[in-house]
Amino acid sequence: MKSFIAGLPKAELHLHIEGTLEPELMFQLAERNGITLPYKDISALRAAYQFSRLQDFLDIYYQGMDVLRTQQDFFDLTWAYLQKIKQQSVRHIEIFFDPQGHVARGIAFTTALNGIHPALLQGKREFDISFGLIMCFLRHLDENDAMATLEMALAHKDKIIGVGLDSSEKGNPPAKFQRVFARARQEGFRLVAHAGEEGPPEYVYEALDLLKVDRIDHGNASMQDPALIKRLVAEQIPLTVCPLSNTRLCVVDTMQQHPLPQMLQAGMKVTINSDDPAYFGGYINENYAAVSDILGNDKKLLAQLARNSFSAAFLEEAQRASLITEVDIYLQQHNNCSR
Ligand code: HPA
Ligand code: ZN
Repeated sequence: MKSFIAGLPKAELHLHIEGTLEPELMFQLAERNGITLPYKDISALRAAYQFSRLQDFLDIYYQGMDVLRTQQDFFDLTWAYLQKIKQQSVRHIEIFFDPQGHVARGIAFTTALNGIHPALLQGKREFDISFGLIMCFLRHLDENDAMATLEMALAHKDKIIGVGLDSSEKGNPPAKFQRVFARARQEGFRLVAHAGEEGPPEYVYEALDLLKVDRIDHGNASMQDPALIKRLVAEQIPLTVCPLSNTRLCVVDTMQQHPLPQMLQAGMKVTINSDDPAYFGGYINENYAAVSDILGNDKKLLAQLARNSFSAAFLEEAQRASLITEVDIYLQQHNNCSR
């Protein structure tokens, strides 16, 4: 099954580029920038990656991103991620970055953007991985801060396809960001939002009805509400599910209890993603592998997840159709042998 997953063409639609900062690179960048990390070595840092809720992770994630200071740092971060996924049959990515996490530390919006974007262009040229860049608003900050960030992005519309919403979910409902999402929509950005990771099903409704998002990031809590499940199926709203993230952040207790099989069974358009792979123990193929068991190692279901990833992506229709055909051909060629 591992080799089937390894070769399966797929898109990644829920990935925070700052969450791909591996401990090794964190130490290298700290040294390059004259920063002393509060961990004596890589294994002490890894040992700190024990989370019992989203906030435990976010505290470490914001601390970790402090080593990102120069355009070169952001380039190197993005390039390292591309090096990983070029070996994972990833054909298309739509990745997040958190400009407010950098601007608040005195790092310019353009320092982050002008490091990340050229690396993505080089990944397209060298590895044929197409991409979209999505800027997330930090929901623990107020809407004015998000609006100021959106205004900064307007000069860079050629490089940013959409806006999202991330960070501490509980107590920060989508409703808080209604105006800034309306403005982003007017400006032609695609819209996504984290909802129902730790928050209730109501946050998923708000993301749909008030923010008018195209996709829901995570969306696990939807499973508590049969009417919401019905709606997500009827409208074929994509969910970007992140299995290893869900177990590491205790959104689910064990992978056996992950709702993915029920989501597929219900006909929801679910996709598999890695969220913050440097912190959660695996890139996209490890996430596919983590759910393969609970799907009975069914190649058809794994291929369905890959197909969903292209059908949920912000792609031109011709490219979408050709990538979905690649999945179909791959499944036909590999459906008989048991690896
Ligand atoms: N949830 C919310 N905010 C985030 C996450 C997440 O999983 N990763 C990075 N920021
Ligand atoms: Zn996320």
